[in-house]
Amino acid sequence: MQNKKNLNSDSGGPMRLLKFSPWIGILVFVLAAFIFGVISHSFLRGGASVADQKLGLVVGPLLKGPADPPVFAYWISGTGGEGQKMLRLLKAVYHPRNRYVLHLDAGSSALERINLARSIQSERLFRAFRNVDVIGQSYAVDRTGPSILSATLHGAAVMLRLSADWDWFITLSSSDYPIMTQDDLLHVFTSLPRNLNFIDHTSDLGWKEYDRFDKIVVDPSLYMDKNSQLLISSGTRKTPDAFRIFTGSPWVILSRAFVGHCIHGSDNLPRKLLMYFANVAYSMESYFQTVICNSPEFQNTTVNTDLRYIVWNNPPGLEPLFLNQSYYKAMIKSRAAFARKFMEDDPVLKKVDKKILKRAQNGVGFGQWCSAQLKNKGEKTLEGDTCSSGVDINTVKPGPSAARLKSLVLELISEESLFSNQCKV
Ligand SMILES: *[C@@H]1O[C@H](CO)[C@@H](O)[C@H](O)[C@H]1NC(C)=O
Ligand SMILES: *[C@@H]1O[C@H](CO)[C@@H](O)[C@H](O)[C@H]1NC(C)=O
Repeated sequence: MQNKKNLNSDSGGPMRLLKFSPWIGILVFVLAAFIFGVISHSFLRGGASVADQKLGLVVGPLLKGPADPPVFAYWISGTGGEGQKMLRLLKAVYHPRNRYVLHLDAGSSALERINLARSIQSERLFRAFRNVDVIGQSYAVDRTGPSILSATLHGAAVMLRLSADWDWFITLSSSDYPIMTQDDLLHVFTSLPRNLNFIDHTSDLGWKEYDRFDKIVVDPSLYMDKNSQLLISSGTRKTPDAFRIFTGSPWVILSRAFVGHCIHGSDNLPRKLLMYFANVAYSMESYFQTVICNSPEFQNTTVNTDLRYIVWNNPPGLEPLFLNQSYYKAMIKSRAAFARKFMEDDPVLKKVDKKILKRAQNGVGFGQWCSAQLKNKGEKTLEGDTCSSGVDINTVKPGPSAARLKSLVLELISEESLFSNQCKV
């Protein structure tokens, strides 16, 4: 009221506004052009790995025979203030074979997104291999609602379009960190059937049946510009009987075939379930589980694990505990591939960098593809910018973590274990 009155009574007001508006317009235009320039440069580009002599790297072709390592497609999501955390995670899971798409949601500012795209542009390796992209478009996401599921499906669709090479789609948040090198992970997955889906699930809904599935929620992040909290309706609905609900960990490793089924399969189930889960809280914990376990052609491809090390309080809260140095040993012993959640720059991450990833402060994780420099200088860690001359992206060198993961995966996919844990009702 006060403002309106002032505007109306102050004859200089509209005049000043008029005077300033062209400048604001120009400023917005310049800023928008700049944002588009930076982000599109990083986003709108195609082509597989190519020789990049100007950058001093000669990159061989990506081989994809049955004996060659697979290719992972990493979807890394974060929110305001998490740009640096995401960049660190990206470097920790970096390998030139893989694809990476990063998304900062509407909790971040335009400047943060520009800075992230710029940081990625400024890395010689990322420019040379052209396998890191930032989603230029930002939209609202609520991590407890269906909007995070929609964002994940967006990431999956972008990945399908960006590259025909990848085998598995891996979801990570800025609070995750790898506890083995990409060489370890690629090595273990080389010998696995490419149709497996690592997806933790159960049909035992327990308290969730009423609290999650009978309750109806609305996620304003689906239709508002800003990240907003879920609205919980007082009404309830029946537990579905047209399909069986499965629930589990929201962190998944999905095969390309299953991702294709969810994004553009001709079966109606993925679409129908997407609409059902639009009113379910924590739908990321149930969507992929329910789709896969109700799809006869994919049911037998599930491995009941998320391959993550996560610690819950007792009794468990809604979010897992933050991990620190005290969990280091248990984390390694778990034989998992990733762990969460970590605070930004927690000292335990430095320990993982040093002991496992052999990653220097601004470098990428160790990989055989960039091992020459390690040998030459007798260094214990790798600077991101030191890989020179010929780079072989088709050979990986597993370390001790690979043996641990391999023993875990072999247990999980052994005949007795695999079938008895698949979509049990
Ligand atoms: C999946 O496994 C079950 C039980 O082992 C079997 O009866 C069924 O035919 C399999 N489905 C497919 C599509 O292979
Ligand atoms: C790690 O976290 C736990 C609780 O989450 C806490 O009790 C412990 O003191 C922490 N340890 C260190 C080394 O910070």
